[in-house]
Amino acid sequence: MRIVLLGAPGAGKGTQCKHIVARYGLLHLSSGDILRQERAAGTELGKKAQSYMDSGGLVPDEVIVEMMAGAIKKAPEAGFILDGFPRTVNQAAELDKSLACSRQKIDAVLNLEIDDEVVARRMTGRRSCPQCGAVYHIENLKPKVEEICDNDGTRLIQRPDDSPEVVTNRLKTYHRQTEPVVDYYKNNNNSVVYDIDANKDADEVSALLFEKLDVLVEA
Ligand code: AP5
Repeated sequence: MRIVLLGAPGAGKGTQCKHIVARYGLLHLSSGDILRQERAAGTELGKKAQSYMDSGGLVPDEVIVEMMAGAIKKAPEAGFILDGFPRTVNQAAELDKSLACSRQKIDAVLNLEIDDEVVARRMTGRRSCPQCGAVYHIENLKPKVEEICDNDGTRLIQRPDDSPEVVTNRLKTYHRQTEPVVDYYKNNNNSVVYDIDANKDADEVSALLFEKLDVLVEA
């Protein structure tokens, strides 16, 4: 299966991808995680991305398309789920072209729909492990020991782009540049798009996603 998971910042894409990967054995490819790894490693790509990420804007398409095309080539037979990519109509069109070269296509698009006020609450409460990338929330998904990662004991951090001002910019960027990607897929007969209510609890959202994906797997 080749899946795209769309949704505003903080809609729960990373959280849901972990459950989807565990159930269907897909490779999770998060453009945001890859960019953060590049930044931590101090690569040229990471340095290029830094100012865009810190302000809540988008890294230029050509940089992202090349980075993600390289990652997709390493995907296993079972397939992949894309998280945070494509984020512009141009990125989506480039992805389609690149997959068509190997006679592939996106099988399904899962679109997490969420209200802006819910996003703001989720982002300000998010804590992440700088070591393994695990994601927590100070109210909804607490670690066993406060501020400490369950997996490796590392002290949790708040992502620098989760400050209220940057979250506001990220939401504006989402509405202006990424929402049109949903229509791109809805108008394109190659892929089926499922709108999912992501305002619900994480378990309920997972159940809605599994319902759609189980049908695809059985088809
Ligand atoms: P990226 O890392 O992709 O950020 P994002 O899309 O803004 O998404 P997030 O990771 O913030 O949120 P999420 O939807 O994964 O939510 P999560 O599961 O963590 O991108 C960062 C930056 O990189 C961008 O701003 C841009 O600059 C650049 N970039 C990346 N891709 C790019 C591209 N393709 N083109 C150009 N630039 C690009 O959940 C959030 C919190 O809520 C957590 O604390 C979680 O525990 C909690 N939570 C999750 N679900 C629920 C629920 N159902 N109920 C209650 N709490 C929940």
